[in-house]
Amino acid sequence: MSVSWFNQFYKEIAESPLSAWLESLPGQIATWQKEQLHGDFNKWVKLLGKLPKTEPSVINTKDKVEFGAADDVSEYTQKQIVGLLKQFMPWRKGPFNVHGIHIDTEWRSDWKWDRVQPHIQSLENRYVLDVGCGSGYHMWRMLGENAKMVVGADPSQLFLMQFQAIKHFNPDPRIHLLPVGAEQLPEKNAFDTVFSMGVLYHRKSPLDFLQQLKNQLRPGGELVLETLVVEGDENTVLMAGDRYAQMRNVWFLPSTDALCLWMTRLGFKHVRVVDLAKTTIEEQRATQWMDSQSLVDFLDPNDHTKTIEGYPAPLRAVIVAER
Ligand SMILES: C[S@@+](CC[C@H](N)C(=O)[O-])C[C@H]1O[C@@H](n2cnc3c(N)ncnc32)[C@H](O)[C@@H]1O
Repeated sequence: MSVSWFNQFYKEIAESPLSAWLESLPGQIATWQKEQLHGDFNKWVKLLGKLPKTEPSVINTKDKVEFGAADDVSEYTQKQIVGLLKQFMPWRKGPFNVHGIHIDTEWRSDWKWDRVQPHIQSLENRYVLDVGCGSGYHMWRMLGENAKMVVGADPSQLFLMQFQAIKHFNPDPRIHLLPVGAEQLPEKNAFDTVFSMGVLYHRKSPLDFLQQLKNQLRPGGELVLETLVVEGDENTVLMAGDRYAQMRNVWFLPSTDALCLWMTRLGFKHVRVVDLAKTTIEEQRATQWMDSQSLVDFLDPNDHTKTIEGYPAPLRAVIVAER
């Protein structure tokens, strides 16, 4: 089954600073589509096709992500939408509100946005990239700050489906999610702002990853990085063992000083830490839309300052810098 989501993106970027992406991206996406042969992809695309067409009376991306009021649809249609959206569980990043349906996600991603947004340059009229965007919650909030175009990159198939499910209710041509990793994106120095939140610690080679982010920025463009850190000086970096807070794919957790040093050595300018926050069990928790284990189960039950493996509990920093 083929999908036309990306054709619209190619049209949108033809006359933009991203036009050079057209040299290689369509081929990569075509290859990706051929690889999506297993059952889930086709099943999910079919489910997306069943979402009813509605006329949302509310479109809000400024203070939250809300498309449509409850009154816009019948009770039957509302139930139908709930039933379809629940099939895309687990919903991790959000919350989203669609026609009065509150998708209460595992994460209060809005809290992260509140920690980040006050410290960044205005997104008005900017080309914005969100690397590791998940289901796109923050992308909508970036659009709410009047970005000219928001492009997300995330290799997770489920997140792409969740993004398309939400976009169904507000098919705004300025927002697109591409199912590719940071390392696959054409490096054309095209973006005014690049975000990458919650991804650095998943990368085996964090310096290469930071360089990839830099190569997406135009000179003078802004990088907004959010990641797990540990306390310590510029020589402190925790390398996780088999698991960190039960996650298997965690590599390096630097101190903020070490991370700022990495970024300065890579040539970023004006590198600064603008926020430091402990992740609480109120910010990351099980809900009706993500009903398996969550942070409370990944911490030491007798001491919430430690993970279940005995590492320092999650502490997250926001770092801003320029190219
Ligand atoms: C913890 S989530 C963060 C989601 C969102 N940015 C946030 O802050 O809530 C990490 C995301 O990084 C994505 N990811 C993993 N490897 C990646 C890569 N090589 N390039 C881009 N994204 C990647 C995962 O699919 C996942 O959606």
